[in-house]
Amino acid sequence: MTVEKSKQKIITVDGPSGVGKGTICLLLSHQLGWPVLDSGALYRLTATAAMNDGISEDNHLALEKIAVELDVRFESTANGLRYLLRNEDVSETIRQEATGNMASKVAAVEGVRAALLDKQRSLATTDGLIADGRDMGTVVFPDAPLKIYLTASAEERAERRYKQLKDKGIDVNIRDLVADLTARDERDSNRKVAPLKPAEDAVIIDTTDLSVAEVEARVLQLAQQLFS
Ligand code: DC
Repeated sequence: MTVEKSKQKIITVDGPSGVGKGTICLLLSHQLGWPVLDSGALYRLTATAAMNDGISEDNHLALEKIAVELDVRFESTANGLRYLLRNEDVSETIRQEATGNMASKVAAVEGVRAALLDKQRSLATTDGLIADGRDMGTVVFPDAPLKIYLTASAEERAERRYKQLKDKGIDVNIRDLVADLTARDERDSNRKVAPLKPAEDAVIIDTTDLSVAEVEARVLQLAQQLFS
């Protein structure tokens, strides 16, 4: 990649489920002082609203309407962001595996993606942005000066997710996790609209054998070359 100084302060971080995008984005956010756009949370919020309203994954028009009218607020707390959907705190609900699976289905609907596009772009400010998702570098911020694409084997990602859930006291079967992640990868990568794939100018980092600190250091080095 040719590295040139840029004024637009956006780093996109894309990659499959469970690869550690959220962790890396938070660390970058602390280092650079830039906010994070967790685009997955928007799809998870849409999925939560749909599940609350009893809307099925096949009812594309109703899902689109939910995304267009999405009534959400984000509040900063000492423990991170709090997500309010129609005034109800859904910060925990949106992180559940079932919500993630529904989010992946909802995210394949063209009208839903179109409705959420402007919401995502409006979060870019001159103060910088770290955008976490699947299509941040390809669709939402195609002109971002630094695009990162993280990968890791499905087994490694399932192992990481397993440890995370176990730490939270949630008991899951690792084989179910691998199956879930693989199904989600398939759906996210093969959908017609904005499929999961690296942008042509993305820096691809295979994190399978890297520590979090090593991944963070690599991205920070690139960011410093570009933005300092
Ligand atoms: O990153 P996550 O696990 O919170 O995302 C949940 C789902 O939302 C994911 O399976 C696919 C979808 N998603 C998407 O299609 N595009 C994004 N930019 C972010 C998430």
